[in-house]
Amino acid sequence: MSDFEQLRETVMQCQKCGLRQGCTHVVFGEGARDAKIMCIGEGPGYYEDQLGRPFVGASGQLLDKILNVCGFSRQREVFIGNIVKCRPPQNRDPFPEEREACLPYILRQIELIDPPVIILLGATALKGLIDPQASITRMRGTWLTWHDRLVMPTFHPSALLRNPALKRDAWEDFKKVIDKYREIVDPNHHSDYH
Ligand code: URA
Repeated sequence: MSDFEQLRETVMQCQKCGLRQGCTHVVFGEGARDAKIMCIGEGPGYYEDQLGRPFVGASGQLLDKILNVCGFSRQREVFIGNIVKCRPPQNRDPFPEEREACLPYILRQIELIDPPVIILLGATALKGLIDPQASITRMRGTWLTWHDRLVMPTFHPSALLRNPALKRDAWEDFKKVIDKYREIVDPNHHSDYH
């Protein structure tokens, strides 16, 4: 079994925190195994929990639309994961101890997929991966360097659904990702819109 499949097995069987007991499916994440871009969200919601797949509800549809506009897809360039793999009850924010229990899994996913670019979707991903004190409003749109990777924090798609005025800023952030992808991965990368 590959290291990646071994990790999947470990995550699927995890009982390190209480979330597993209250959820239907563990959501490991999905996308290209050799993705150059990793998108990291917060954790599964209702539909993700029902299907065992990340970002398949309303936020997921918006995320797919954004990726599509950028010329990216979860089959080719992107792997999509979450800070916690099990749905918190009533979609509450994961508790710090739940985030901490799950953190080694996203770190190992990053290590194995080895993407040069990481997009952090929203405050939980930013706080969970980079700094518990970090503010998404202040830090979105600027490249961070983290363990030799470039990290772009941006708004979570659910924030864009709640407040469509934020979409303009989010598009600026994704344009920076397209530029960076052309710079370090594929100078001929095509997007219809940028
Ligand atoms: N929101 C997230 O943060 N992750 C998902 O997988 C779905 C919605």
